[in-house]
Amino acid sequence: MTLSRRDTLKRLGLGAAAAVSPVLAPPQSAPPPPSAAPTPSPAETADRARRMKWWHEAKFGMFIHWGLYSVLGRHEWAMENEAIPVAEYEVLAKRFNPKPNAARDWARLAKHAGQKYMVMTTKHHEGFCLFDTKTTSYCAAKRAAGRDLVREYVEAARGEGLRVGFYYSLMDWHHPDGARCEKDEAARRRFVDYIHTHVRELMTNYGKVDVLWYDVAWPLDAEGWESRRMNEMVFSLQPDIIVNNRNKLPGDFTTPEQRIEAAEEGRAWEACMTMNGSWGYQAADDDWKTPKTIVRNLISCARDGGNYLLNIGPRPDGSVPQESVRILENVGAWTTKNAEAIHGSDRCQPRRSNYASFTRKGNTLYMHVHFWPGDTVALAGLLVPVKSARLLAGGRPVPFMQEPLRVRFTGLPAQAPDQPATTIALECEGEPRQDQLAVRREKKREQV
Ligand code: GLC
Repeated sequence: MTLSRRDTLKRLGLGAAAAVSPVLAPPQSAPPPPSAAPTPSPAETADRARRMKWWHEAKFGMFIHWGLYSVLGRHEWAMENEAIPVAEYEVLAKRFNPKPNAARDWARLAKHAGQKYMVMTTKHHEGFCLFDTKTTSYCAAKRAAGRDLVREYVEAARGEGLRVGFYYSLMDWHHPDGARCEKDEAARRRFVDYIHTHVRELMTNYGKVDVLWYDVAWPLDAEGWESRRMNEMVFSLQPDIIVNNRNKLPGDFTTPEQRIEAAEEGRAWEACMTMNGSWGYQAADDDWKTPKTIVRNLISCARDGGNYLLNIGPRPDGSVPQESVRILENVGAWTTKNAEAIHGSDRCQPRRSNYASFTRKGNTLYMHVHFWPGDTVALAGLLVPVKSARLLAGGRPVPFMQEPLRVRFTGLPAQAPDQPATTIALECEGEPRQDQLAVRREKKREQV
């Protein structure tokens, strides 16, 4: 179908008047709206692919929310959601004196859980800096803790061979200009300089940093934060770093929160999620997810080409709540045996089953059975021939029969061999794809 110029203009909402105007520029040359991401050049695309390679392979990371709110133990938004005055809140800094090197336990836990990187709050909305800074005395190094907790964290992560990420909140409930910067240009200037100085310190004082994870940009927009200049500084100091999208620029990846939502093909994404309902330590929050839910979430992220950033909220002394330890150890027992199906996996098209979910690497399909049906497991609509099948944990071959519309794995134990999911690896003759409707359309109907 070819569209007339009039139709084209109509579709663009420019109407008939515009259609007859001889001076109107052709639509394709219209400048993009200021907020739209400029299309990256091939060189930029290649550079991004280089910087993000390890991250795409990693698939699983640990998020850590830790700060003065941990002392209160009532969620990291307590200061705002209980309207605690600044002067009353600040004194928490006298009680925040964690045991030395608490981060080593987190890093060990992360490693055993199969997490390949960590992202810690260097400053949350409360405004307290866990790093040493020349900009304020409201930081761990100059209060009760008397040391740079970001440095300890970086050393701990590196010590376990994990990549290092810094979460940094732009919004600040403590700084006098943190809210008035919205309406007062002099305040904005001071505050943006303050924030940029923090970012510069974080990018300068800790060696190589792998991820910069901005958060909440209230009350300014990208222009107000001077986000473009901020990112340029970041990349000039850390040429290999990746940055997220929460400083009101697209950055390198999208950050769906508390939900798993794939970005369009070609765009990186990371779902961040709590294990209960709180990011910061909340002593009474007992709404824990099961290890099975966490493993299934990890599989869903990997299937759709994303990452899973799973949070812990350590207590003020740095210890990790027992329930989080238990969950991560369980998850780790699974990821250790099934690492091949997660790390370095590719986007995976098959997704239909009542009791399994899928990941893929090349021509291998991993069928993760989370509700074990008994001695026979079946998969419908697979479009490629299966060459062999095995239990991923232990490698035992699994007998199978392939018919045009189904593959059946038989002779399996009545009880699930592995928890919280048993993974069957299917070597296929080509990229495994599933036709979701093949069964409905093509199964031979009998006569009534
Ligand atoms: C939100 C919350 C915050 C948490 C973050 C994690 O923006 O304000 O408390 O740090 O999400 O994604």
